[in-house]
Amino acid sequence: MPTHTMRAVRIHAHGGPEVLRYDEVPIPEPGPGEVLVRVHAVGINPPDWYLRDGLTNIPPETRPNFHLPVIPGTDVSGVVDAVAADVEGFSVGDEVFGLLRFPSFDGSAYAEYVAAPASDLAHKPAGIDHVHAAGAPMALLTAWQFLIELGHDHPSPFQASQHRPVALAADTTVLVNGAAGGVGHFAVQLAKWKDAHVIAVASGAHESFLHELGADEFVDYTKVRPEEVVHNIDLVLDAVGGRDSKHFLRTLKRGGALFPVFFGEYDDEEIAKLGVTVSGTQVRSNGAQLAELGRLLDAGTVHVAIDSTFALADARAAHERAAQGHIQGKIVLTVA
Ligand SMILES: NC(=O)c1ccc[n+]([C@@H]2O[C@H](COP(=O)([O-])OP(=O)(O)OC[C@H]3O[C@@H](n4cnc5c(N)ncnc54)[C@H](OP(=O)(O)O)[C@@H]3O)[C@@H](O)[C@H]2O)c1
Repeated sequence: MPTHTMRAVRIHAHGGPEVLRYDEVPIPEPGPGEVLVRVHAVGINPPDWYLRDGLTNIPPETRPNFHLPVIPGTDVSGVVDAVAADVEGFSVGDEVFGLLRFPSFDGSAYAEYVAAPASDLAHKPAGIDHVHAAGAPMALLTAWQFLIELGHDHPSPFQASQHRPVALAADTTVLVNGAAGGVGHFAVQLAKWKDAHVIAVASGAHESFLHELGADEFVDYTKVRPEEVVHNIDLVLDAVGGRDSKHFLRTLKRGGALFPVFFGEYDDEEIAKLGVTVSGTQVRSNGAQLAELGRLLDAGTVHVAIDSTFALADARAAHERAAQGHIQGKIVLTVA
């Protein structure tokens, strides 16, 4: 293969995992403010299959424009191969990780090389490998921007008011729904880092995993409805969302908050009557926050759980695994 081309996975038409094609394409040129990263591992996330499906689950007014064929993916860990003249802070040979260009959906991470905005990158924590580093960016930044610090003042496409995390401490009880997944398992760990009392909701197979991550209590949603057994909660981080999310309103104490990570439907009258708030946001790329999170990863305060790994060429199998659900941690593509 000539050296100016690379392998990348591209979507040529919308559809199921079978539309992912392993192509030969030009190596991108880093533009102003960018570095070229030789990719070692790619973390996969729900927006990757939303893009594959045509973003039909995103309201048309907030749906980004894109043209096919497109290289999906946002989360990378790799080594800097070239640096634009105006970039400071990164040099050839540096190990880096990042959530690229989100929420623009043009991260182009399923590839051997990616041109990455330097502002979206941080130095990879030395104590974890590329597979674990690639599993962190989107899911960990989501948990961080919902729970700890938003870190920007961009308006949210989903609500008029700006999302504000609530203070977490030893006297705070946090329920995490979807606790075993990418966002959920990081949310459990960040809430424990803040000394909160954490109740994890997931299917039964994840019970010991979630206790090992620090969860104080576990609810198996396949056996019992969480809203029937859990009450007086300060904060629900709902990483599942959807139609059932509204049931968590009943678990909150007055003054409590529900943070849906995915769209839900809520009755304003019920929210007012219960004296609670509902607030969400959309994760954004943020290299400075990732640098801060890199210190928690390096210290072992936050651990990246790996559900499974697949070679980049087998991205289809990785998406098929994701479609089966019950993900524990992160699915990661490895790049030879
Ligand atoms: N707002 C944002 O900016 C933002 C950012 C990132 C992600 N998201 C959204 O957040 C959601 C979660 O993302 P993710 O990356 O964490 O997904 P994920 O890794 O696929 O995890 C989803 C988890 O939910 C669990 N689950 C499924 N149905 C459940 C139910 N009814 N009750 C409790 N748990 C259930 C699954 O395992 P078990 O069923 O086995 O427990 C799985 O562990 C996605 O919808 C994603 O699009 C939004």
